[in-house]
Amino acid sequence: MKAEANGITLHYRDEGSGPALLLLHAFPLSGAMWRPQIEGLSGEARLIVPDLRGFGETEAPSDPYTLDDMATDMVALLNRLNVDQVILCGLSMGGYLSFAFLRQAKDRVRGVILADTKAGDDTEEARSNRIAMAEKAEREGSGPIAEVMPEKLLGRTTREERPELVDDVKAMIRANSGAGIAGAQRAMAQRPDSTPLLPEIDVPALVIVGKEDELTRPAEAEKMLTALPQARCEVIPQAGHLANMEQPEAFNALVREFLKELKE
Ligand code: MLT
Repeated sequence: MKAEANGITLHYRDEGSGPALLLLHAFPLSGAMWRPQIEGLSGEARLIVPDLRGFGETEAPSDPYTLDDMATDMVALLNRLNVDQVILCGLSMGGYLSFAFLRQAKDRVRGVILADTKAGDDTEEARSNRIAMAEKAEREGSGPIAEVMPEKLLGRTTREERPELVDDVKAMIRANSGAGIAGAQRAMAQRPDSTPLLPEIDVPALVIVGKEDELTRPAEAEKMLTALPQARCEVIPQAGHLANMEQPEAFNALVREFLKELKE
C-alpha cells in the first residue's frame, strides 16, 4: 500500500489484527526483511511495516534528511492510518529511528523492542566511513554494497549453513537505490547520542541481540539494559545482526511473549 506522509510517497504493509506493532527495518534493507514476522505474528498483532524513506518502494528524496525526518514520516503514517499508540520494534537503524520517534512522540509508544541496535552515536571514524559509503553508493549504485554487506550483517552460522538467506539479503540490498543508501548513511552519521534518553523510556522494553552479531555486539545490548528503567534482554543463539531473519522462530517467540506481558 502507499500513503502520502510528510511530503513523500511511502510504501508500507498493514497486516493482521491486534495491538499495532510498527516494524522499523535495518540498513540497507527494506520492510521485506520483516517477512518472517508477517508470516509468524499477524495472528497476534497488527503489523505496520513501512519501507523507510530511501528504501524499497518508498521515495528516496534527493535533499538531505535526518532520522528526525524519518520519525516524522512514521508519525504521519500512523496519523494516516488512524493508529494512536504502537509498540515500536526497531532493528539496528530501526532502533536509531525508534529513539528519534520516542523523542518526538513518546506518548504514542506503549512498549519498545530494540533489536541488534545501540544507543550511542558514531565515532569520527565511523562517520567518515559512512560518508565514504554514501559517496560510493552515489557513484556506483547499490550493487557493490550488496556484495560486501551480507558478510557483516549475517552471523557465522547463517553464512555457513544458509546460503539462500545470504542471497536473499543481497537481493534486498541490490533492490535499493544508491541515492537511498547515501541518504540514510548521511542521516545516521548525524544522529545524536541517545544514551541520555534511555532512563526516560518509561514503558516496557525488550532488548534482543543475536549472539553472533558483530556489528552491535551483545555488550551494546547489556549497556542499554542497565540504563532502561523497565527492560529485559534476550540473546538469540546462532543469529547475527539480522536476528529476526536468521532465527525467526526464536525472535517471534520473544515478541509474542512481550505482547502478552503488555496485555497483562
Ligand atoms: C543496520 O543494520 O541498520 C546498520 O548496521 C546500522 C548502522 O550502520 O549503524
